[in-house]
Amino acid sequence: MRVFVTGASGWIGGAAVDELLAAGHEVTGLARSDASAAALETKGVRVRRGDLDDLGSIRAGAEAADAVIHLANKHDWSNPAASSAAERAAVQTIGDTLVGSGRPFLLAAGVAGLTQGRPATEDDASAAHGPNSPRGGSENLALEFVARGVHTVSVRFGATVHGVGDNGFMATIAAIAREKGVSGYPGDGTNRWPAVHRSDAGRVVALGREKAPAGARLHAVGEEGIPTREIAEAIGHALGLPVASIAPSDVEKHFGWLSRFIGMDAPATSTVTRELLGWEPMGPTLIADIDSGAYSTRIPANAS
Ligand SMILES: NC(=O)c1ccc[n+]([C@@H]2O[C@H](COP(=O)([O-])OP(=O)(O)OC[C@H]3O[C@@H](n4cnc5c(N)ncnc54)[C@H](OP(=O)(O)O)[C@@H]3O)[C@@H](O)[C@H]2O)c1
Repeated sequence: MRVFVTGASGWIGGAAVDELLAAGHEVTGLARSDASAAALETKGVRVRRGDLDDLGSIRAGAEAADAVIHLANKHDWSNPAASSAAERAAVQTIGDTLVGSGRPFLLAAGVAGLTQGRPATEDDASAAHGPNSPRGGSENLALEFVARGVHTVSVRFGATVHGVGDNGFMATIAAIAREKGVSGYPGDGTNRWPAVHRSDAGRVVALGREKAPAGARLHAVGEEGIPTREIAEAIGHALGLPVASIAPSDVEKHFGWLSRFIGMDAPATSTVTRELLGWEPMGPTLIADIDSGAYSTRIPANAS
């Protein structure tokens, strides 16, 4: 099968592409730079040059494919509205291109903010509708295309997709700890982050393309929720730093752009996904990854 992947050079995209290649698929990745194009070519991935704002390139990639997996995201934390607008436009373009084709269209989403006071499940619909909502309401927009003959599947990732080489949230938390000389957690640190190892996330994407019915919402979640205090303690131990609560009034100053996320309580289950895909997480847990040094190398605090 010819699979077009946006974000193929990214953290999750790289793992998903490895799974797709191992299963014998022909993968084309969207690449916006020479470096990303070269990295993809080295793996045996065909390259379609283009930016997320280059909707013509995204349309052409989707037209030429038997399945589309959309994992690219600008992640511009200084301008979330721009990231959301690009996300929505890309999803609209891919959906429009696939109308009536029955072809699979997998897109990335998250589990945060779906529920309050209880773990989110795959049955919990996102309340984000329209361009001004989180991620531009892209999950619901993509799912609307099911009624128009698109085999949409949303893959919601746990808030931290962790592992050696991670450059995202967890690496930033570790970098802030190093920079401040203290491994902090917000308030009493009982708020929970769901987690999944990168390799397990990549398998959910590949299995989701193969097995998930149209309209499915999958949870790539290996661990339902780890209290931020436990995360901070593990990072403090790994980096040889003291561990401390950060008062709510100091959270923004301490965590910077990450303050929008560090206090979230976003437990999520993956029971439906496990049954649907026959998937079980096999990679290390988040704390095992931290303990084994996955976050002990230096990454700048402003990395995203
Ligand atoms: N990682 C997590 O913990 C997590 C959790 C929940 C949801 N998600 C979602 O899962 C998806 C994949 O995340 P990730 O962690 O793999 O992200 P990532 O490592 O930051 O990768 C982002 C990908 O998007 C590409 N990209 C960025 N800006 C682009 C642009 N303007 N035009 C074209 N491509 C562009 C990047 O290309 P370059 O290689 O050229 O930079 C890269 O391939 C995202 O939608 C993310 O929000 C991730």
